[in-house]
Amino acid sequence: MRDSYSLRLTKPFVVDNVQPYFATTCATQSPSERATFINNKLDLCEKLTEEIMGDIDMFETLLMFRRYDKLSFFHGFNVACLSFAFGAELGLEEYDLRNLVRGAILHDIGKTKVPLSILNKPSALTKAEYDIVKAHTQYGHDEAIKIFPNLHKDSLACILSHHENIDGTGYPSGLAGSNIPFFAQIVALADIYDALTTVRTYRGAASKLPYEAIQYLMDNSGIIFDKSLVESFVKYISVYSVGSLVALNNNTHGIICETYQGATLRPKVEVFLDNTKGTSELVNLLDIKNKHLEIIKVLSQ
Ligand SMILES: [Fe+2]
Repeated sequence: MRDSYSLRLTKPFVVDNVQPYFATTCATQSPSERATFINNKLDLCEKLTEEIMGDIDMFETLLMFRRYDKLSFFHGFNVACLSFAFGAELGLEEYDLRNLVRGAILHDIGKTKVPLSILNKPSALTKAEYDIVKAHTQYGHDEAIKIFPNLHKDSLACILSHHENIDGTGYPSGLAGSNIPFFAQIVALADIYDALTTVRTYRGAASKLPYEAIQYLMDNSGIIFDKSLVESFVKYISVYSVGSLVALNNNTHGIICETYQGATLRPKVEVFLDNTKGTSELVNLLDIKNKHLEIIKVLSQ
């Protein structure tokens, strides 16, 4: 019984879900250095996954979370994958990445105290309902302390403070600037990015394309998010995964084959020219001659 649950629980937090966030090419690393860097981080990711799933309290909590609200549960894993990749690129070491990942997976655990009628309400929330949703940060923090007495303060901060805004307009405490714990700021970016790019089945919100989500982060830098953290996110996180099928604005389709750190919105694409003949050409969107070309849709990840 435990094993079958374990398989289903571990599936989302696997290296396959973390790897795509690493840009394949980096200006400051040779190809072999880059490959070693990414492989080392993926090995660590695997180790952390095993640790998390081997922790009975964590396992039981995640199982309960999954039973209560699948969407929030999977969102937690996505945010953990994204936070891990971003934290690794920012240079965080194993100790910090462990605390970051634990906090990220649990960041919305307080939603288990929000009635499903509110969580899954298809229409806009009333003020009273929104106040209940907002309380998930404090609920989650208090619950996590009870369940995990040894959970690191950096992980707890991710749960309590991931809805604080850099300009002080967030909740629950209205913290501003550097008073918002750093790991909570990482989780906040990952949280919004995943929420914007994931198809939601409630409240009718349509998912955004990666570049639209990046634009949202940039538009809100200095307001919701720290400016330099957004710059780092845009530089480091590869929004298009190698192997994804995309549509371009010249009525062609192609496969992403290389992504560049610092220009992750302009990858190299193998564009199909003639499906009947199976011909294709490599098109580097970074190349100035291709500046008119845009990715307009991700057809499959
Ligand atoms: Fe949240």
